[in-house]
Amino acid sequence: MGDVLRRYWIPALMADEIESDGPPVRVKLLGEELVAFRDTNGEVGLLDEFCTHRGASLFYARNEDCGLRCIYHGWKYDVRGTVLETPNEVGVRAYEGRLKLNAYPTREACGVVWAYMGPPDREPAFPEFPWNVKAHVHAKKVYLECNYLQSIEGGVDSSHVSFLHRSGITANHGEIIMRDLSPRLELQDMPYGFRYGALRQAGDGQQYVRITPFIMPWYTIVPFQKEQTQAAHAWVPIDDEHCWTFTFNFTFEDGPLPPEKWTHPYEFDGRFTKARTRANNHLQDRAAMKVDSWCGIPLIPDQDAGIQEGMKPILDRSKEHLGRADLAVVHMRATMLESIKAVQRGGDPVGIGSSFPADQICCVVEVVPGAVDWRELGLPAGAGVPA
Ligand code: FES
Ligand SMILES: [Fe+2]
Repeated sequence: MGDVLRRYWIPALMADEIESDGPPVRVKLLGEELVAFRDTNGEVGLLDEFCTHRGASLFYARNEDCGLRCIYHGWKYDVRGTVLETPNEVGVRAYEGRLKLNAYPTREACGVVWAYMGPPDREPAFPEFPWNVKAHVHAKKVYLECNYLQSIEGGVDSSHVSFLHRSGITANHGEIIMRDLSPRLELQDMPYGFRYGALRQAGDGQQYVRITPFIMPWYTIVPFQKEQTQAAHAWVPIDDEHCWTFTFNFTFEDGPLPPEKWTHPYEFDGRFTKARTRANNHLQDRAAMKVDSWCGIPLIPDQDAGIQEGMKPILDRSKEHLGRADLAVVHMRATMLESIKAVQRGGDPVGIGSSFPADQICCVVEVVPGAVDWRELGLPAGAGVPA
């Protein structure tokens, strides 16, 4: 799976966590311990945390004159990991300009530093998702104490909305969601992954359609109405037992996004950390559950995180009993497994090399006549309808 994930550009850290000649930050991704820094010219480096001389942590390094200088013996690295100086060496300094510390290419978009950690000759084009190309985007990240796949599974699971989020459904279609608790799920494979439609009866021969795209390897776009702020998620593995939830907010009008338009509020106790954790049982309020709260956790994102972390860091899926409502979860796993096999054969995982216009990937929330095929909704003109 790691080989698959390394074939995509990865949201790695917030761009404002590092400033020119400022302190490096530790970044752990896919189990690898790295440091990120911004050099004097504003370029970003993402390097192995440990100095290639004798392993001192470069988290303690000096960031100066276009490079990171280890404080142990003064070896200096540029953003590509090249050893520039080895000042404690006498005579010919053979390593200078030749030796490299492992480093990954980075890009900046939507206020996030992205990294490519795969084979250099397989580096894909940078993904032009709506949130990467729009002028007004707000991105944030939150630390979760569980395996990333548990969180993705929550992101492609429509039927939990009517239960877990019962007390928080105030949107226009809340009454439909509460009347029809068992949406019919249907799948549509797409070049970037798949879409699924959650279909509910809306009366008078109408159907209520919510389409969620799943974009390999870990993105969903939450089905919100067109006039609402749009929200995409990425669940990025820190290691097997922790992940980052990135949320990208933007609008179809592409207007500015003041804080009151941001979605997915959490109760924070630090910039990236939640106040409600598994260690404090997510501060579930049993008294409120007797009155007007279904789950005893007030905010929807904390409700999702509570469920995902409450499963413990790695869920034992051999004990599950999946049903029709879990169709998208099953298909997400199948898409992952298909990608593993493709990479093992030397090919590309799903979505890499796709010609589908990434900036056109969107969710759909609409009430339409029952005869309308949801598979034709929300596609770019002339794109054709995949099977
Ligand atoms: S360990 Fe970094 S310079 Fe020696
Ligand atoms: Fe949820």
